[in-house]
Amino acid sequence: MADDIFQAVIKDHATIRVLMKAVDDCGKDADLRREAFANLAKALIAHAKAEERSLYDTMLGESPSHDESLHIAEHDAISELIHTLGGKREAPTDWPATFLQLKTLVKRHLDEEENELFPVGQHLLTADQKIRLGELYRAAKADEDSKDRSDILVL
Ligand SMILES: [Fe+2]
Ligand SMILES: [Fe+2]
Repeated sequence: MADDIFQAVIKDHATIRVLMKAVDDCGKDADLRREAFANLAKALIAHAKAEERSLYDTMLGESPSHDESLHIAEHDAISELIHTLGGKREAPTDWPATFLQLKTLVKRHLDEEENELFPVGQHLLTADQKIRLGELYRAAKADEDSKDRSDILVL
């Protein structure tokens, strides 16, 4: 059976964690780092938008114990930092510090989704809804993956 929404999203979280580590592993090689960061940035943006178009769209305001809008605000904060890192040339000393900020925020965001939001969603959604949202997420992700992000990645 195809992955449900939570299985699909958690797999993409694992990919994002690997892509974040790949940026760190580039060390001081600027060309490698640019490429690794572009891969991470595209994956993060497509993931966040697809998540909003599927899971958040359905859960927003439905769970009495959880405020999903906080997670969406974090997507915006992540996007801001990606724009800062990818949209213009920062002084070399600023880039690692700003990337550390992004990494800290993303790690916390993924952990909060997995440990706090998704357990609520597991109870709130029916098995059919989880499968349907998984399909919706994959379709939205494919659509987001096909978009040109050169506006924010002018490294
Ligand atoms: Fe998210
Ligand atoms: Fe997520």
